[in-house]
Amino acid sequence: MELSAAQVRHYEEEGYLFLPDLFAPAEVARLRAELPAIFAQRREENVREKTGDAVRSAFAVQTYNPVFAGLAHHPRLIDPAMQLTGGPVYIHQFKVNAKAAFDGDIWQWHQDYGTWARDDLMPEPRALNLAVFLDDVTEFNGALMFIPRSHKKGVIEAGHDTITTSYPLWTIDDDTIRKLVAAGGLVAPKGPAGSGLLFHCNLVHGSPGNLSPFDRTIVYISACHVENHIRRFKRAEWIAHRDFTPIEPLPDDCLLREAPPARP
Ligand code: SIN
Ligand code: MN
Repeated sequence: MELSAAQVRHYEEEGYLFLPDLFAPAEVARLRAELPAIFAQRREENVREKTGDAVRSAFAVQTYNPVFAGLAHHPRLIDPAMQLTGGPVYIHQFKVNAKAAFDGDIWQWHQDYGTWARDDLMPEPRALNLAVFLDDVTEFNGALMFIPRSHKKGVIEAGHDTITTSYPLWTIDDDTIRKLVAAGGLVAPKGPAGSGLLFHCNLVHGSPGNLSPFDRTIVYISACHVENHIRRFKRAEWIAHRDFTPIEPLPDDCLLREAPPARP
């Protein structure tokens, strides 16, 4: 799938691109059907919320679940990733963020590349997130907020927050956020399950907790140009992958085939 020149320009200028209806209801249903068994697993890749047993992030699901492996090789995600980074990509990180009804905690303001540069020594911000909504995302269930154009600021000073949530993050202070929002404003892309959202790895983002009775499940595939692979293996392999093999996109109907898609 090729993005139009206007879509590429929007991504480059604003730092993100919202693609409503990227996946059909039948494709979303196939992915959603896998979630209860994934979240029920007691494995280190399933990071739970600080306050209880709800899964916050299920990492590396594509390494053991064939349906999510199909999503990780989907041409509607991987083709745009190659187009926007200018070449073949590998998957640096893969996570399903559940943001469960009532229990889903905040994500503090941050840039993903801030962590990838500081912790993983990824050389350049030549990477992006490919997000797919597996639930409807509304004003009630903790939508992701972006500061448009903040990706043009480079890596912003950040502090390592190991306390606020169950997941350590390099977070940006309130004064800096105030200034960035005064310049760029805020957007919170909302839409039905199946929507796609691509965003630059330096775009500043965060999300509030989910007080609503509606889950807000989003899958995030972090795709990086193969030449820009990480240089330090400090974090666990399931958080920062070390297989830099270029992803070969599968056929467009890979999520709807009878047999599960081929493993990577
Ligand atoms: C993230 O920034 O990695 C996740 C944010 C969210 O799922 O709300
Ligand atoms: Mn992030």
